[in-house]
Amino acid sequence: MLWAPPARGHHGMLLTSSATPGSKKIVGVFYKANEYASMNPNFLGCAERSLGIREWLESQGHQYIVTDDKEGPNCELEKHISDMHVLITTPFHPAYVTAERIKMAKNLQLLLTAGIGSDHIDLRAAAAAGLTVAEVTGSNVVSVAEDEVMRILLLVRNFVPGYQQIVKGEWNVSGIAHRAYDLEGKTVGTVGAGRIGKLLLQRLKPFGCNLLYHDRLKMEPDLEAATGAKFEPDLDAMLPKCDVVVVNTPLTEKTRGLFDKERIAKMKKGVLIVNNARGAIMDTQAVADACVSGHIAGYSGDVWNPQPAPKDHPWRYMPNHAMTPHISGTTIDAQVRYSAGVKEMLDCYFKGKDFLPQNYIVKEGQLAPQYL
Ligand SMILES: NC(=O)c1ccc[n+]([C@@H]2O[C@H](COP(=O)([O-])OP(=O)(O)OC[C@H]3O[C@@H](n4cnc5c(N)ncnc54)[C@H](O)[C@@H]3O)[C@@H](O)[C@H]2O)c1
Repeated sequence: MLWAPPARGHHGMLLTSSATPGSKKIVGVFYKANEYASMNPNFLGCAERSLGIREWLESQGHQYIVTDDKEGPNCELEKHISDMHVLITTPFHPAYVTAERIKMAKNLQLLLTAGIGSDHIDLRAAAAAGLTVAEVTGSNVVSVAEDEVMRILLLVRNFVPGYQQIVKGEWNVSGIAHRAYDLEGKTVGTVGAGRIGKLLLQRLKPFGCNLLYHDRLKMEPDLEAATGAKFEPDLDAMLPKCDVVVVNTPLTEKTRGLFDKERIAKMKKGVLIVNNARGAIMDTQAVADACVSGHIAGYSGDVWNPQPAPKDHPWRYMPNHAMTPHISGTTIDAQVRYSAGVKEMLDCYFKGKDFLPQNYIVKEGQLAPQYL
């Protein structure tokens, strides 16, 4: 076996393995965990643990390069683009796979997303180049749906300012109570009722809300009856009815900027919005302005445009937000599931077998239907 000393970028970390002739070169881009890497054996999604597949890949003679350094022409990722066969990325620390990068990637065959949501990849360019794009469909949908229930309650109960009071040594019940409500009896609408949206509706059912959903597709009658959710074919007819709106669509050409100034203005004054789907589904400034004016009474989510969010991102500074870094779909449980899913797809790829049909986002030049 050849040994290659690990090359290091100036700011990124790099974990590398040796190459064997005829082997595949697989590159993974994940968030770095530093001092947290050793704190949990199942913390598989970080760069240091690299999905837990290094030994398995190397034992088969493949080369596995892992880095967190993904931006700019001199980053570690760019050094490997020209000869990699497979790129594994994750939405939590997205390596933006632009048309230019795809053009440089002469050997690239497969783009795998460790998680769900492959909008960090130029899907049309990938399709035109004959690449396969696949994700671990379903791997973290429970994680996200649970997180959405938490965010809805955080906003409805005005929790975050109460917590901040305590941390700052204050005590002011009125400061919280004048805008804290019960969730029961409120109208909650999900924009997108796919895997996550459906799990959310099931979880909200016992809260006694009026549940609405908008989607390209009407859901199965059984599930509609079980959740009591009402189908709203026209998004603009649903939004003004909602006290709480949760976004659960992928980021596509149709959903990019869906919530712009005009659409937000048509929503109820005092609406609460939860968005764990993608930051770019919102017009960033329109959301910040509506939070300042009070038209949006609370906004919470874990997705930003771009990621990591720059220090001056307006959502960091707008009032009444409950934002976090991109965390909802990367619980330890989710990491175990999406690591196993990536391994399974790599195994299929090495053996020339198909993946589960629902995992494909781009296959043989075709985009999955909701991306068209
Ligand atoms: N924050 C996180 O950690 C995290 C984790 C997983 C997924 N996500 C995001 O959530 C999204 C949804 O995930 P999912 O597993 O529920 O996907 P899914 O494919 O099961 O469901 C998406 C739903 O959106 C609907 N849809 C698509 N385009 C639409 C449009 N233009 N108008 C109306 N409805 C439309 C689809 O018909 C489908 O029912 C992902 O694409 C990803 O962007 C975020």
